[in-house]
Amino acid sequence: MKKSMKFLPCILVLLVCACGFFAACGKGNDDEGKLDLTDSSKVLIAYFSATGNTEKAAGYIAEATGGTLYEIVPEVPYTEDDLKYYTDCRADREQSDPDARPAIQGSVENLSDYDVIFLGYPIWHSKAPKIIYTFLESYGFSGKTIIPFCTSASSGMGNSANDLHGLTSGANWLAGERFSSDCTQNAIRDWIDRLEYEKTF
Ligand SMILES: Cc1cc2nc3c(=O)[nH]c(=O)nc-3n(C[C@H](O)[C@H](O)[C@H](O)COP(=O)(O)O)c2cc1C
Repeated sequence: MKKSMKFLPCILVLLVCACGFFAACGKGNDDEGKLDLTDSSKVLIAYFSATGNTEKAAGYIAEATGGTLYEIVPEVPYTEDDLKYYTDCRADREQSDPDARPAIQGSVENLSDYDVIFLGYPIWHSKAPKIIYTFLESYGFSGKTIIPFCTSASSGMGNSANDLHGLTSGANWLAGERFSSDCTQNAIRDWIDRLEYEKTF
């Protein structure tokens, strides 16, 4: 066998690996697997906010990325009493019920148009509110990049986003970020700038 032929199998293996690597990059990423936010028409900012803090953060993300805002609105709105946590209020009960899936009013138009989805929520008892579970179970997210963000009084993001991964088969999740209840536009801008360098796989 010619000497150069001996390397043929190795070259073939390398080619197959390279193809697999680039195929795995998925939508919303460039060829190096970095997050691609250049096409704002592909960016959706979906959020739930009971008292306006996460909504403000979502608005700053929309300003920074040019993406489209979508508010996850509960079919039955949360009253002030529903949100008095540690009183066995509605929100407390939902968070401790594994089967709770509060219904959502309306739906996202053309979710298939979006490759990158920022997903925002307030921390409720160290978790994402159960309406976020309803949202994720309502659509297919395969091939999409999901970037969680949350606001809270003091808790970190903890496992609130990791707990959601199992609901979105085939999606690429970034680590995400927690912001304080009164987060600033600058804090969001800094985060978005850093995100562009974050790999998604
Ligand atoms: C039911 C409930 C549970 C909460 N649990 C936590 C918590 O575990 N840790 C925390 O830091 N803040 C907690 N908070 C405070 C919210 O995370 C915080 O006020 C958040 O910014 C509210 O966002 P929103 O205005 O978008 O609803 C809780 C609030 C509610 C209503």
